[in-house]
Order: sequence, then structure tokens, then C-alpha cells
Amino acid sequence: MCGIVGYVGQQSAGPILLEGLQRLEYRGYDSSGIAVLDRDGALSVLKRQGKLRDLEAAIGVMPPGAAGIGHTRWATHGTPSDRNAHPHASSSGDVVVVHNGIVENYRSLKALLDAAKPERARSWQSETDTEVIPELIARELNQGRSFVEAMRACLGLLHGASAIAAFHRADPSRIYAARKGSAGGIVIGYGDGEMYLASDLPALLPHTATVYHLEDGEIAVVDSQGAVVHRVNQPPLRPVSRQVDLDPVAVARGPYRHFMLKEIHEQPRALSDTIRGRARLDPPSALADEFELSDDQLRSVERVLVIGMGTSLHAAMIGRWWIEQIAGIPADFDNASEFRFRAPVIGPSPLVVSVTQSGETIDTLGAMDHVRDRWGAPQIVITNVEGSEATRKADASILLRCGPEVGVASTKTFVGSLAALYLLACRIGRARGVLDDGELTERLEQLLTAPSLVERGLELSKRCKEIASSYTGAANFLVLGRGIEHPIAMEAALKCKEISYVHAEGYAAGEMKHGPIALLDQQFPVIALATRGPLFDKMMSAIQQVSARQAPVIAIGDEGDAELAELADHYIGVPPANDLLTPFALTPVIQLLAYHIALARGLDIDQPRNLAKTVTVE
Ligand code: AGP
Repeated sequence: MCGIVGYVGQQSAGPILLEGLQRLEYRGYDSSGIAVLDRDGALSVLKRQGKLRDLEAAIGVMPPGAAGIGHTRWATHGTPSDRNAHPHASSSGDVVVVHNGIVENYRSLKALLDAAKPERARSWQSETDTEVIPELIARELNQGRSFVEAMRACLGLLHGASAIAAFHRADPSRIYAARKGSAGGIVIGYGDGEMYLASDLPALLPHTATVYHLEDGEIAVVDSQGAVVHRVNQPPLRPVSRQVDLDPVAVARGPYRHFMLKEIHEQPRALSDTIRGRARLDPPSALADEFELSDDQLRSVERVLVIGMGTSLHAAMIGRWWIEQIAGIPADFDNASEFRFRAPVIGPSPLVVSVTQSGETIDTLGAMDHVRDRWGAPQIVITNVEGSEATRKADASILLRCGPEVGVASTKTFVGSLAALYLLACRIGRARGVLDDGELTERLEQLLTAPSLVERGLELSKRCKEIASSYTGAANFLVLGRGIEHPIAMEAALKCKEISYVHAEGYAAGEMKHGPIALLDQQFPVIALATRGPLFDKMMSAIQQVSARQAPVIAIGDEGDAELAELADHYIGVPPANDLLTPFALTPVIQLLAYHIALARGLDIDQPRNLAKTVTVE
């Protein structure tokens, strides 16, 4: 989703801003722009619809200037276009702004600004909600306020979450940043005689590992020597920066054609790293360290609710299954965006677990707020991003150790989230006395096989490619699974939609005959997940019903399963796994099928159209 960068220092700002924006491309965007200010107050604002290379081509010769801000936009209000791209300036041209988030009341603010000066009602330059922000700041400045005071007054008028970077044309020595709510973060990066702003750490990667994350409600004044943060009703202060660990090699694509493929192949490592030290066998323990909720607190829990969105919701569905099976406690899952606007009954004594690889998904953050405000229930977050907003809202965090995930489609963070949920189920089961030493050891030993299950699944890439080549032109897929494999069917369908742009539906196989079967014919392929678990026979019946409608069947089951292979048109054998572990065996195959279909279709796999890596708007 939208990305923000900023720079103030001695170097030429333009190339630094562009490079920072390139590092945020993975978030997904449809247009981009930079604004650069030179020491004499000469302002250059350059914006383009399309990719950053289009912006670069339009810029030609980089404008001079050692201060600037830049943005990649993911359209919410107004089509992707040059004029809707950020930065946006006030009508005077003095105040220049880039913005992440949504100004929910922008219509009434526009009306307010127009009504204030009816004699020269502003002709708005864009269809965006953002454009009211520079205008509001300029209005406050005209009333004699300082820039910080003007930003503060502006924030007070905005409804919804916003992250803003800005500057004033008259002052090329400073850039400003402000944060209201959870519209993604703003990070201040500390260089040597130069300073940076970014919505995400990767943009700062080549420059600095010393950062400060702006908190909700803070406004930062940044010059080449440092930053001063202004909080409401407190004196300004120099914030305490911290060091972050970002391995530059990990964000490079290496020998892989796409980040998604690289990240699919990194899954065994991501899993091992996430599990390391958290699944001990002698004596057995799960998540024993680094976990802020005590056994007493876990013992008092009577129900667990797991929430998330998209791929994280599918992980949550599997987590629900494990918490019930392993910890023996009532558990449920929910779509965070729906949950937050209901009045659900989640008690008594609930524990809420949010799954969000980015830690910045607005729907999930909103649901966490809902839990805190309405029930004050203990909350755990499972996330791949240390210091993300979700970690600040939760009482305890389980940090994945997957490394940066650049592809928009979540892959390694999915299996990482699964491992964390499994460990959590073991920890709760142990705290509640459901698992004795022997049972806990057995469960953990099973989890320790997960990296090799995924590793062996990756060896099936060639087979997935062959099968994908037969279905490059397919317009639809139905993906069927049962039990713990049903969420994997949904994840398979999501991956087909996201990167292959193929309409696909993931269904519980038992549901097929209640409607979807009407769709089936020779042109409607069905992917059936059918490992030899307790529901295998039921899956075989469903496959028979599909075949009877002459729909082609791609069956994914245990390796060497001749019965399944015979029934299917295509068969992929995955390593046999314990019944609770089959998600790990199946996941690489469904990811690789979607990947190879997208590849054969020549699609933009790492940055699929209309999608964003981190969804910071509702
Ligand atoms: C997954 O491939 C998608 N990019 C998307 O569904 C994602 O899982 C969802 O937006 C939730 O993101 P989060 O894990 O960062 O909260």
C-alpha cells in the first residue's frame, strides 16, 4: 500500500527519494511522485501514474535540492493518474504533503475550506482526500501558527488514520512527519549529518539502521542534525533511537526470478528459525521464554479467538483447529474486518490471538482496539515485523523469524504463522495440564518435522509446473479440502486469485454438493486436497462426484497413493505427515501451482495488480 520517504541533508535528495521508493515497490502502488526543495526555495514536484520507471523517465534531469519527500500511491479516492499522485500542495504552493491513510471526512473539510473563502473558492487539483491536508495546514499557518501547531490543528480535524510527511517551501532545512492512528508507520532514520523518513524500514536499509518509530499522535521536526518530537501537552523532546537488524542480503532477490519464488524456497529456513529454541524436548516446553503471558494467565483462559485477514485468516483457521485439538479448549476464528463491527460474545475469560505478518493491517489493528475497548481481554499477536503497531497493542508477541517478505503474496510468513500457532497451542495445552510430558514431547517432535515436510514439497516444483502448463488458460478453479485441509484449500484459491488472476473458490468438500457442483463441467478444473487422514474416504467420494461431472481433477495426496492417482487426471504426491501437520506438506505445492500458472501467463507476480503488501486502509 502507499509508501512514504523523506530526506534532508547535504546530498541531492531526488535520487535518494527515488531509491527509497524503489525499496517500497513491493507494497504495491499505481503511481508515484517526489517533491524536492532547493536552498533558495525553488520547488519541483514530479508525479506520474504507473511504475517508478515512468516517474524516473518523466523526471529526466534530477532537480537540485537537499530536502524532499516522496510517495508511492495505491488509489483509494480518485483513479490512478498523474494529478491524483502525491505529493499534493496547498493552493499557495507553500505546503507540500504526502499521505498514507484515508481522510474519511474529506468532503466536509473541502466544503469547510471552500466556504471560508467563497470569493475565491479553491479549484481542487485532484480527486483525492489528501489534498485537504496541505490546504488545512496552510490555513492554520495563515493564522499565525507554527508549522507544528498547524499540523496538530490539521490532525485534529481529520477523521480516520493518517501518516503524513510534509515541508514548507520557505524552509528547506526541515521536513516534518506526523502520525494519527494506524495508517502504517513512519520511521525516522538517523544518518551522519543527514536524516531520513520512511513508512517502512526497507527504504532506509542502505542508509542507516538507527531509527525511531513515530508513535500515534506524535509530530516530528526533522533537520539534517536530528529530530525533535512533539507530543500533545508535553515539551518537545529528542526521541531515543534504536538499532534495527535488517540484513541487506535478505532483501535482494538472489538467483530467483521473483521474490515470491525465493520466499517459497525460504520456507524451510523460516520455519526452522521461527521454531528454534521455542520447541524444547528435554525437558519438554513450548514458547518457554520471551513470552509475556504467564502460565497462570493462560490457565484462566476459557476460550481462544484467533483473528486475521487474507492469508493470515487462513492461518488463524488452522490455529483454531490446533488449539482445540492440542490445548483442548474452545477456540474459534474470525475475519478481523467483520469481527470489529459486530458485538460478538467472546467470553468468558477469552484470549484473543491476532495473526498479521505485517503487524500493520488496519482491519486487524481495529479488531485489536475493539477487543481492548470492549472486553479488555488479554491479546497475543503473531507477526513478522518487530516494533509494528500490532506488537504495541498486544500484551504479548510471538515474533516470526521469516526475514523480510517482499512478494505481495504471503508465503513464508504463512508457514511461520502456522508454526507459531502450533507452538501456542502446545503452550496453552501445557499450562492447562492437558498435555503431559510425553504428549508435549510427541507434539513438539511432530512440529520439528515441518521444515523437512516443506523442503520435500519444494522438490515438486517441476511437477507443479507441468500441471500448471495444462491449465494456463483455465478461467476457474474449485479447490476442495476437508478438516484441517479446508483452510489450505482457501489459501490455494486466494493464491490463484492474487497472482494468477484466475477465479478460484476454496470450499469444504462436504459443501460442494450443496451448490458449487452446479458449476462443474469439462472446463472447470478441481484441485482436491486428499491426504490419508481421517476424512480421506469422504474426500474420495467428493472426487468421484467431481469426476462424474467430467471436471478435470488435480489431486494432491500422500506420495505413492495409487488409488488417488488412478481416480485423478493429475496427481501430486506430497510427503506423508501426521494428521495435524498436513498443512505444511500441502502448502508449498499449492503455492507453486499458483506461481507457475501466473508465470505461464506472464503476470507481474511480485506486485499483482490492485494489491498491496500491507493494507493500511479500510
Ligand atoms: C496474502 O497473500 C495477501 N497479501 C493478503 O491476503 C494478506 O494476507 C492480508 O492482507 C493480511 O495481511 P497481514 O498478514 O499483514 O495482516
